[in-house]
Amino acid sequence: MANWTEIDRHAKLWIADAGESIRRSFKHSLSIQTKSNPNDLVTNMDKETEKYFISNIRDTYPDHSILGEEGNGDQLNSLDGTVWIIDPIDGTTNFIHQQRNFVISIGIYENGVGRLGYIYDVTHDELYFAEKGKGAYMNEVKLPPLEKVPVHQSLIAVNATWLVKNTYFDQHKLVSLATAVRGTRSYGSAALELAYVASGRIDSYLTMRLSPWDFAAGKIIVEEVGGVVTTLLGEELDMLSVNSVFAGEVNLHSEILDQFLLPTK
Ligand code: IPD
Ligand code: CA
Ligand code: CA
Repeated sequence: MANWTEIDRHAKLWIADAGESIRRSFKHSLSIQTKSNPNDLVTNMDKETEKYFISNIRDTYPDHSILGEEGNGDQLNSLDGTVWIIDPIDGTTNFIHQQRNFVISIGIYENGVGRLGYIYDVTHDELYFAEKGKGAYMNEVKLPPLEKVPVHQSLIAVNATWLVKNTYFDQHKLVSLATAVRGTRSYGSAALELAYVASGRIDSYLTMRLSPWDFAAGKIIVEEVGGVVTTLLGEELDMLSVNSVFAGEVNLHSEILDQFLLPTK
């Protein structure tokens, strides 16, 4: 049986250490490359940080599997066993341009069930974490259950690019939603936006295409405070592929689904 207390201790230690290395890197120039397109960036720190986690996990927990954004982990067809899902830097564009609004994101799953989630805002030294069934925290502070907020008083995170014609979702529905709420925000790091939903800084987050490493940790943390994380059509997320993602407090989530996102009957 997995010793979750020990795994948690190791995860926090490695995250603190990796965060320190990333902060030290601010003084040095980065090596920046592009991936799938000219706006999809990766730096030496994304790669080094992922390798740091993977080598520690492999040494300490040789029977655990790893899914990592930069491809140094395993090729997985299932979530059997204990699986670490790692985004070494979520919000790389912000890391490069702003040196803020980026995080380390790690979700640890056991046979497909989220057990431990960590989102570390490196610049602000804010660690959001949760253990399934034991609540969620930001550093030492326990996060309270999410409060019910009506749509018209809610603050939602959505990237402006989804409000113009796109191939993933009817932009008119998203424009109606964006018009109905109190305000919209966009932070450029999916994991940070999920941490902000969990801590009540925003009420909901919607986006069209995320990979498992973007939402694995956030899903666990949001669920621990009474939130729901699904696709934009309210379906369960597939932890091994790309999904649309919609997170929010349970009542708000269901109101937005019914009033704005689901096909009208
Ligand atoms: C990206 C960020 C961004 C989201 C993209 C992700 P990366 O992750 O989370 O907010 O809109 O879809 O790919 O590339 O910075 O790890
Ligand atoms: Ca990411
Ligand atoms: Ca990344």
